[in-house]
Amino acid sequence: MPIETPDPIEEYVHILFAPEDAALSAVSRRQEQAGLPAINISPTEGKVIGVLLRAVGARRALEIGTLGGYSGIWIARALGEPGRLVTIEMDQRHATFARRSFVEAGVGDRVEIHEGSARDILPRLKEKFDAVFVDADKESYPFYYEQGMRLLRVGGLLLGDNAFRDGRVAHSGDRAPDVEAVREFNRLAANDPRLFATIIPVRDGLLVGVKLAD
Ligand code: SAH
Ligand code: DHB
Ligand code: MG
Repeated sequence: MPIETPDPIEEYVHILFAPEDAALSAVSRRQEQAGLPAINISPTEGKVIGVLLRAVGARRALEIGTLGGYSGIWIARALGEPGRLVTIEMDQRHATFARRSFVEAGVGDRVEIHEGSARDILPRLKEKFDAVFVDADKESYPFYYEQGMRLLRVGGLLLGDNAFRDGRVAHSGDRAPDVEAVREFNRLAANDPRLFATIIPVRDGLLVGVKLAD
């Protein structure tokens, strides 16, 4: 199933619970104009993430994979005061684009973009986060799992986009490296006694887990 299949139920929830303001819709529009890929989360997924962040009272969040800042705006807006989002992006063009998105959405002061590969940046981070959202290169998901768990406080939330990888995780004959890596990410989350997790079937699957122990 393609990620963005029009679905009347999804549309119903979108209009009722997750309407976009001008800043959010401008990001999608500007991304298209600039030729950035249209692979941001959906508004309904942004709202699910926002509800979960508020449920754990998140103030500090870490995002891996900024793109144009669309998901980062949803996350930054859901953080309590004084909120702080650290978001990692290795494509300089995406980072520059996202910096503008955050300012225009009124969250520029609470977002810090770390430019470079998350593979290099994550091992150097030491502070603990209330939530970690994984949404960069799929081949690195098992590494992001390990680093995300290390950086989460007990009671914090592990979130992972594309847990269904376009439905491909369920087709056992599909052995593509990105699909295998997302499968491994899901298996790690499912079998880790330190995490209580599941996949919420919103858009391309949102993996959600609460960290129970260090
Ligand atoms: N979270 C965004 C979408 C992210 S798309 C949203 O929903 O709005 C994935 C992003 O990860 C792309 O911008 C890509 O450049 C970035 N990326 C890919 N590999 C990376 C890596 N190793 N380190 C940091 N960023 C990476
Ligand atoms: C792709 C990546 C994403 O993070 C996403 O949400 C959708 C598609 C991709 O690489 O195709
Ligand atoms: Mg994604």
